[in-house]
Amino acid sequence: MSPWTEKYRPKNLEEIKGQDEAVFKIREFLKNFGKKKNALILHGPPGTGKTSIAHAAAKENNFEIFELNASDLRNREKLKNILRPATEQMPLEKSDKIILVDEVDGISEYDYGGLGELLSVIESTSFPVIITANDIWDKKFSALRKKCEMLQLKEINVNVLKNVILEISAKENISVNDDLINELSAKAKGDMRAAINDLQALSKLKDYFSVILDERNKETDIFSSLKKVFQEKPENEMLGIFDSVNMSIDDIILWIEENIPADYKGEELARAYDLLSKTDVFRGRIHKQQYWRFLVYENIFLSYGIASSKKNTKTGFTSYKKPSRILQIWLNNQKTVHKKSICHKYAEYVHVSHKRAMTEFPVIKLVIKSNPEIQKELKLEEEEIEYLKI
Ligand SMILES: Nc1ncnc2c1ncn2[C@@H]1O[C@H](COP(=O)(O)OP(=O)(O)O)[C@@H](O)[C@H]1O
Ligand SMILES: [Mg+2]
Repeated sequence: MSPWTEKYRPKNLEEIKGQDEAVFKIREFLKNFGKKKNALILHGPPGTGKTSIAHAAAKENNFEIFELNASDLRNREKLKNILRPATEQMPLEKSDKIILVDEVDGISEYDYGGLGELLSVIESTSFPVIITANDIWDKKFSALRKKCEMLQLKEINVNVLKNVILEISAKENISVNDDLINELSAKAKGDMRAAINDLQALSKLKDYFSVILDERNKETDIFSSLKKVFQEKPENEMLGIFDSVNMSIDDIILWIEENIPADYKGEELARAYDLLSKTDVFRGRIHKQQYWRFLVYENIFLSYGIASSKKNTKTGFTSYKKPSRILQIWLNNQKTVHKKSICHKYAEYVHVSHKRAMTEFPVIKLVIKSNPEIQKELKLEEEEIEYLKI
């Protein structure tokens, strides 16, 4: 499956979002090539469009791209052999070409003997050189900086991130609610690659995704049930009220927890919370000891119990809110989802409990990490193997 960041990589400069100044300047740089400096450094935080802008600009001008990466720069001789000819030959098909040195700051830990070669190429080239970097302020790049025009890319504005997330969601046919879009865009902190990757990861976690996505449809049920329980007299017919809500008890508890303070105050609020925490403890025991027949009491606590915690009945419209903890739970789960799935496969394979695999994960991780055969045997997905390396 292809990463959405590649699938939706901007194909031309019009598709580059939120970087109008940079787009303007790179066009100017190419148009005026030969009059000023021969090279341009696009620098700025990851995921802001540096690589995409370089490629899109080449395409717009029908330029061929000759691309080098940081590892090519390590060896001066090798670089001479590939870069020199490239700056001298005319490309065969297209009208012109760009030399792109992507992520020049990636060389930091290696020998950067090639840097000197790059400098001399910049002086003599008859083709524009574009260099990208996250951080160009290191001392070792000072000579390079002097030879280049500098173009700084800013973090992408949060509203631009939201729009791109919306667009991709529409194309992928997934509906994402506003809270989630806001959360994703804020969390990305100006990094479009991060935002798109999160969206794709989220779309794969179908269970949690559907909790969040289905909320809209479920809201009418949960709203009217909350209203009854929070505002009306406790009655027998209330006992099964949450059965008809198409949501898990865990979610219903979250909804109650989030919204009780909207209707209950003071003593009744304290009583209701107390009941809620008892339900939670009780629920834990039911699950641990597997006394499933006690499950029915949960419903009673949550409906009749919560309803009787109030002093008087209430009237009026309360606008109940979606619980914010669902998102928190999702975010936590996102962090552990690979761990869980690896443990699941491992547990199945060696016949131990899932819980034990989770407890012993640090050791299991070490073993699986360094052993591709076990990885194969366990049928680990690529992403799970990636996760082991972190
Ligand atoms: N300004 C932008 N407009 C639209 N998409 C972008 C933009 N910046 C980044 N992206 C998305 O993020 C991905 C990574 O962008 P890239 O240009 O490789 O970032 P950088 O080189 O700055 O780290 C792209 O494939 C694209 O999906
Ligand atoms: Mg890049």
